[in-house]
Amino acid sequence: EKDLKSKIIEINTEAAKYYHYLLRSDRGKTAYHYLKGRELSDETIVKFGLGYSDKYSNNLYQYLRSKGYNDTELKETGLFTFDEVRGVNDKFWNRVMFPIMDANNRVIAFGGRVMGDGKPKYLNSPETKVFDKSRNLYGLNVARSARKDYMLICEGYMDVISLHQAGFNNAVAALGTAFTSRHASLIKRYAKEAVLTFDSDEAGIKAALRAIPYLRESGLAIKVLNMKPYKDPDEFIKNMGREAYEERIKTATNFFIFQVDNERKNYDLNDPQEKTAFQNKVAEMLLVFKDELERENYIDSVCRTFNISKDGLSRLVKKKALNYV
Ligand code: CTP
Ligand code: MN
Ligand code: MN
Ligand code: MN
Ligand code: MN
Repeated sequence: EKDLKSKIIEINTEAAKYYHYLLRSDRGKTAYHYLKGRELSDETIVKFGLGYSDKYSNNLYQYLRSKGYNDTELKETGLFTFDEVRGVNDKFWNRVMFPIMDANNRVIAFGGRVMGDGKPKYLNSPETKVFDKSRNLYGLNVARSARKDYMLICEGYMDVISLHQAGFNNAVAALGTAFTSRHASLIKRYAKEAVLTFDSDEAGIKAALRAIPYLRESGLAIKVLNMKPYKDPDEFIKNMGREAYEERIKTATNFFIFQVDNERKNYDLNDPQEKTAFQNKVAEMLLVFKDELERENYIDSVCRTFNISKDGLSRLVKKKALNYV
């Protein structure tokens, strides 16, 4: 089992080298230009070991067989499809390749992006004996050495890479999979605070709202960045530059204010009934803070932000706290 794991990593490492070599060869021209079009420097391409999977049906397979790896081993990598009729084919075909490293820099999987609007936009390695999505974060191999108090948590490969290229070397991503408590504990090992910088669309907001409880559980402080009017950190940085992003970090929203702000969308605050319902909801939400002083501080902050009467909300919270225990 241990031997098999290191064999898979060894094969992945060979595959990453091969993809990278292809990207820099004549065959990889289109892919290379695609990455240039996305404003990645050569230095960044090398740093993240980006590559290209060719248009031939199984040239990675042929290459790795020629290096002496057998089918049993190759199957375990998830990089190939074995079919009785169609034979063995490479899983990744004509895509820009992103090797996924674990915290110790070992290549455990790949993501591949189509160049253009094809579907699916990204294809990822299946889970294997060395790749558990819920236990790994893209970019952590670099971000762990950043030694900053906080980590930037974003959604995608390109977000992580753009952030790093702009000097934010503490960015990681959960890669299209749901953010888990394991991801949270992983972050807690290296940082005190999680700064969520997800996409500004509805899916990104939902993902942030789902991640918050896990991050709280692991004891991290949490802030949330707003990437509007852009779609994600990659596009934000491209259009606004690194100083503007830095400024967003400085003016980041506290996670609770973010949660309440999101809740507020369900109420028409001009209607007294709905305003009361909203205040009740907020009072309930405030019960997550067990420490009295902390709760007071949040009441204070929420009332200032949302223009709610402090006496009223405090009374409501006290009443709910009594019924709560
Ligand atoms: N993702 C995936 N499979 C898809 C779409 C997305 O695995 N079909 C994952 C990828 O890790 C991707 C992340 O979810 O990076 C965020 O998705 P999305 O916002 O759609 O893509 P971007 O990262 O913004 O990609 P790009 O900028 O290249 O369009
Ligand atoms: Mn899993
Ligand atoms: Mn998205
Ligand atoms: Mn993007
Ligand atoms: Mn995105």
